Amino acid sequence: MDMPLIDPFARPISYLRVSVTDRCDFRCVYCMTENMTFLPKKDLLTLEELDRMCSAFIGLGVKKLRITGGEPLVRRDIMTFFRAMTRHLDSGALDELTLTTNGSQLERFAGDLYAAGVRRVNVSIDTLDEEKFARITRWGRLPQVLRGLDAAQAAGLRVKINAVALKGFNEDELISLAEFCAARDMDMTWIEVMPMGDLGNEDRVGQYWSLEDLRRQLAQTYTLIDLPERTGGPARYVRLQESGQKIGFITPLSHNFCESCNRVRLTCTGQLYMCLGQEDMADLRPPLRNHPDSDTVLAEAIRAAIARKPKGHDFDYSRQKPDGQVSRHMSHTGG
Ligand code: 5AD
Ligand code: SF4
Repeated sequence: MDMPLIDPFARPISYLRVSVTDRCDFRCVYCMTENMTFLPKKDLLTLEELDRMCSAFIGLGVKKLRITGGEPLVRRDIMTFFRAMTRHLDSGALDELTLTTNGSQLERFAGDLYAAGVRRVNVSIDTLDEEKFARITRWGRLPQVLRGLDAAQAAGLRVKINAVALKGFNEDELISLAEFCAARDMDMTWIEVMPMGDLGNEDRVGQYWSLEDLRRQLAQTYTLIDLPERTGGPARYVRLQESGQKIGFITPLSHNFCESCNRVRLTCTGQLYMCLGQEDMADLRPPLRNHPDSDTVLAEAIRAAIARKPKGHDFDYSRQKPDGQVSRHMSHTGG
């Protein structure tokens, strides 16, 4: 390996998040419309191309790979890709291979994921009420996801639950979700809802619930101990003194923590987003596709992209947009 990836602000880029599909078997109201138009298959990187792409990043010093979507486990034959990444874990080049999933396919794939070297998964569950779950995900069914959790834990995967905080929707489940996770020895993270994509207004189930308020409510039941740990991301953690459980708070677009940002995001079409809160991206598909026999040009394109990584979210810039909207969908960039 030659020089590792360091951005213009001296941040080492060691974490790549890869969206392997924009498709999903759910239609969460804050993420998708009911009748989404998905990308034509030919625009997607093939599994082989995804392998080359990820391997190029790993060759440049990326140590942690998170697979996202859409729903990564609905991509056809995705286990072939996971199994291909195992070689980087075995060689020591990669420290961690992980994924973010809606859990719908975990019952089927938990064992294979563990065998491929995955040790942790993030599963999104916003509510433990079957009717509310069906309402927020439109197409999702809670019992299937709960069976997925069982399978994941039985396979030896450590599970973290992600919940999007929605006022008037899951406010009343703050404590029951915490207790559910504590009882199953799962950490959990609350995510502030972000205005992503063009979702229209017809399906506004919940509304913005600030994590500051959520935290205040949590502190009425539990003693919160602030934890110093950082994962290079926007998450902040507390420990509940009473249960010992760890709870995280993610305010994705708050730009207080950009100085320690260690990550970039690759879409399923090969576009690299250097910052979740900025529109700038580098299209890595041409250097990949036009040079099937060598990754030299690709590696150069990756370096050039990292050299453009912005310092952080540009406040004034996002303010020029209605609602501070980022025009692409979460399922495109991968949460
Ligand atoms: N705001 C916040 N979180 C979102 N997610 C999807 N869309 C949004 C949004 N608009 C979350 C999912 C999942 C993660 C991948 O991203 O619920 O937990
Ligand atoms: Fe699918 Fe996740 Fe979007 Fe829900 S939030 S529609 S599970 S990609």
